[in-house]
Amino acid sequence: MTVEAISTSPDETLRLGRRLAPLLTAGDIVILSGSLGCGKTLFVAGVAEGLGVPERVTSPTFLIARVYRDGFLPLIHADVYRLSSVAEFDDLGLLDDGADGAVLIEWGEALGDAVPADRLSIAFDVVDDRRTITFTPHGAWCERDLGVLT
Ligand SMILES: Nc1ncnc2c1ncn2[C@@H]1O[C@H](COP(=O)(O)OP(=O)(O)O)[C@@H](O)[C@H]1O
Ligand SMILES: [Mg+2]
Repeated sequence: MTVEAISTSPDETLRLGRRLAPLLTAGDIVILSGSLGCGKTLFVAGVAEGLGVPERVTSPTFLIARVYRDGFLPLIHADVYRLSSVAEFDDLGLLDDGADGAVLIEWGEALGDAVPADRLSIAFDVVDDRRTITFTPHGAWCERDLGVLT
């Protein structure tokens, strides 16, 4: 079941991310999509807060990925915007590194089949100052109750 939330402030987006944290388990893949500045990184920062990660998550754009291991669950945060090919993504081995944690990938929809079918997609749509944030579960994610997000 798809769940839709509205965010009208950075704080609300952070809070939504915090709410997702308790739903995450090892091996989870979450794909975030939406234009530059729509709040993907801020949402991941909220997830990190919810997981008890002490440092503040910032955009990993120049590093492609960052691993946060000090929360209740390892968090791998990637931004694949600058990757030129799916092969490059495979070479990074992020999904292997993240097998014991949750992997959140900004712009991950471009990876197509390189990303497992069991995943949560989160789409951000900006209209004026309102963000519509749509959570769409795929595969095994469909069995989870996303109702707690709203
Ligand atoms: N409702 C909102 N949700 C998220 N970010 C917002 C919102 N309103 C304004 N912003 C601003 O938009 C920017 C989002 O940046 P960021 O999370 O880095 O986006 P992305 O990772 O999608 O490029 C931040 O500067 C944030 O303060
Ligand atoms: Mg970002």
